[in-house]
Amino acid sequence: MLKEGEKVIYSELMSAFLKIYGGLAKGIRIFQAPGRINLIGEHIDYNGGHVLPAALDMRTIVVARPNGTRTINMAATSLPDRISAGIGRLDDYRSLAWGNYQCGVAYMLSLQGYPLVGCDLLYHSEMPFGAGLSSSASIEVATAICLAALGGMEKPNMEEIAVLCQKAENQYVGVSCGIMDQFIAAVGKKDHAIFLNCDTLEYQYVPLKLGDYTIVITNTNKMHKHTESKYEERRRECVEALAVINQNGGTYQYLCDISLPELESYEGYFQNKTLIRRVRHCVTEENRTLLSLQALKNGDLTAFGALLKEANISIRDDYEATGRELDTVFDIASGIDGVLGSRMTGGGFGGCNISLVRKDKVEQFKSIIKNEYTKQIGYEPSFYESTAGQGASEIL
Ligand code: GLA
Repeated sequence: MLKEGEKVIYSELMSAFLKIYGGLAKGIRIFQAPGRINLIGEHIDYNGGHVLPAALDMRTIVVARPNGTRTINMAATSLPDRISAGIGRLDDYRSLAWGNYQCGVAYMLSLQGYPLVGCDLLYHSEMPFGAGLSSSASIEVATAICLAALGGMEKPNMEEIAVLCQKAENQYVGVSCGIMDQFIAAVGKKDHAIFLNCDTLEYQYVPLKLGDYTIVITNTNKMHKHTESKYEERRRECVEALAVINQNGGTYQYLCDISLPELESYEGYFQNKTLIRRVRHCVTEENRTLLSLQALKNGDLTAFGALLKEANISIRDDYEATGRELDTVFDIASGIDGVLGSRMTGGGFGGCNISLVRKDKVEQFKSIIKNEYTKQIGYEPSFYESTAGQGASEIL
């Protein structure tokens, strides 16, 4: 059942679609995939660890209609760009500034044997772009389920969809992201987080029962972009660190397979001491994620909040993936009454912080962060409150 407000959004989007592409409303279908926050388990998806993300109720919506040709046409509500991609030449659109993610997904689907049909698509994003809430993964996954459905695959395997979308981002767009964002966008469940083993892709749903507390997302409004950020550098450092350990007697597949005492026994082999801190983050973060699962299952929000704080300190000091803006939000948030925990979320180097705030203190929290942050950084942050949303689905 659609709520009143949602009906309005969809009918406006249909009108916008018909204005661009003409024709009749008959045959139009609407799909969505959500953005995400990661509660804990940061920068360890590509190190074989566990992560605990939740889908947001902010989404990418795709309005779609088959057009009887062999061309996929794309437009967006917030951009002037219009893209036309030939289904027979999907490898040719890697350098598009907008549309490359979608073409990459179409390309990976076709390589995997999904039948594709020509269609007209209109994209609408409900989330800020470049805020570290995985708007890109939501575009990819929404595109994937939309193209799959129009081509006749009405119920695709969502785990396969996630993997194909990650492949599109890694091999087509050229960003070496892990699997977390695409996976949660594909399988997310309302009011739940998922506990995902990023090696085996086994996962379980974890009810997000926060009682008197809620998660407030603070956007530093410092844009983050993986291609320009130090994300790729961190990935290389992890590969290098694993190589040092394995060249000196280790037989580990991933950094997250190592224990802290084991790491200590290898420290002498590292010439580049920075790498030890990178590994220490991965090893301790994996442990914090396992403990967080227990804390959430036990309803122990105080313990969970303490783990969030520790995780922020680790990614700030050992992994160095925060920056002045995120550190400022963390410092202010940590001193506010009614906050059980706070940390950066996502890739970092800008983007968003999540804080576990008592519901009756949310307005006070926002006002303190806004004033202090603006004073120290020079521009305002933004805030979002989102319940855990649904994974990718067809809406209409
Ligand atoms: C980005 C990547 C994810 C993950 C996070 C950090 O969001 O896309 O795969 O590595 O950063 O946890």
